[in-house]
Amino acid sequence: MCCSLLRYSLCFYWISQCFAQFTLPNQPVKDALFLHNFVSSNLTLKDCVFRPANSECPDKDVSYFLYTNGKKEKVDYTKTDWLRQSIWDPLKEDVMLIHGYAGGDDELPMVVLRDAYLKNGSYNIWVVDWGKLNPPPCYRAGVNNMRIVGKCTGDLLTALRTAGLQTEKLTCVGHSLGSHVCGLIARFVTFRLHRIVALDPARPFITPGLRLSSGNALAVHVLHTNAGHYGEGGKTGHVDFCINGGRVQPYCENADIDVQLCSHVWAICYMAESLFPSLTKKAEPCSRRCPAGPRPGTRVGMPLEMGHGTPLFASGSYCIHDKYPPFCPAHDGALGDNRCCLKPPESLSLSSTPTEPTDVPTPTTVDIFS
Ligand SMILES: *[C@@H]1O[C@H](CO)[C@@H](O)[C@H](O)[C@H]1NC(C)=O
Ligand SMILES: *[C@@H]1O[C@H](CO)[C@@H](O)[C@H](O)[C@H]1NC(C)=O
Repeated sequence: MCCSLLRYSLCFYWISQCFAQFTLPNQPVKDALFLHNFVSSNLTLKDCVFRPANSECPDKDVSYFLYTNGKKEKVDYTKTDWLRQSIWDPLKEDVMLIHGYAGGDDELPMVVLRDAYLKNGSYNIWVVDWGKLNPPPCYRAGVNNMRIVGKCTGDLLTALRTAGLQTEKLTCVGHSLGSHVCGLIARFVTFRLHRIVALDPARPFITPGLRLSSGNALAVHVLHTNAGHYGEGGKTGHVDFCINGGRVQPYCENADIDVQLCSHVWAICYMAESLFPSLTKKAEPCSRRCPAGPRPGTRVGMPLEMGHGTPLFASGSYCIHDKYPPFCPAHDGALGDNRCCLKPPESLSLSSTPTEPTDVPTPTTVDIFS
């Protein structure tokens, strides 16, 4: 019952951003739909779908979309000549995005990262939509269903590889539960996954058999923003970035929202900003575990670029301190995405500034996973 609060609190802190987006041109995000979905989610635990481990692929509740060069196409990997006839651009790098709990194609927060990659323009973006297998309040079902999503996505990658996609140019980027799905793909393919970037991989109910590990790809890079709460606490990859101590993000603390959830979600905005050379951040080497507190245990070594540009063969723990919300434009018109801000930019005039919508309950800090 309390689980549906996740949607409400998520919506609460995106809400001002949603309205801000209406005033901006060329926004592909269906903000209105997003709002509608969030407010009208009325599933109960008995509506949750649990796929058995041995179920077959393709799965009707897992969809794939390809975005590139301003176009979007639904992927049908069961047709052998699909790739050749698709909008896929063989000259670009490939990125597969896997959302977490309560996500979907075109859904916040992952859509922010999709748009950042598309704005950069050097990538084919493959979006895995498994939203029907983990809608709120079905977190536990989502954990159970990660395996089948990994299996089907493995089948997709095998088919794409046969059709000519070079998997050495592909990065799997997962947020929360999606990070572990990136890891699970490794079990279902006969080639080595090139790189996984895990954005605050989920902690609750993740058993060792499901957990992402550095064995899952040639390079596994992890950004920790809510370690120990919604995010995995331990060292997980070849490289682990501890952002602001890795546990709670400072700009989330005074933002009148669920500080844990905000910290967990803002990992996506760090990844988004890493796609633009002028915004890219470097982290300093630090002690092995994500150190608590403001002063990391420093370690000798060179600073390392955080995000998409992390060198493939880097390793170790790296710490970074940063008070400002990542990828929030520094001023009106600056590079970034307003959806990564915790308040709309002051200079942005809203035609009808909504205050607090009456149908959205006041967010409460609850453990949604209990
Ligand atoms: C959710 O609510 C809508 C409208 O109130 C209703 O039509 C729909 O059947 C409900 N869905 C579930 C799963 O209860
Ligand atoms: C896109 O990303 C690549 C690699 O990270 C970078 O070299 C390039 O400058 C970026 N393009 C833009 C427009 O920022």
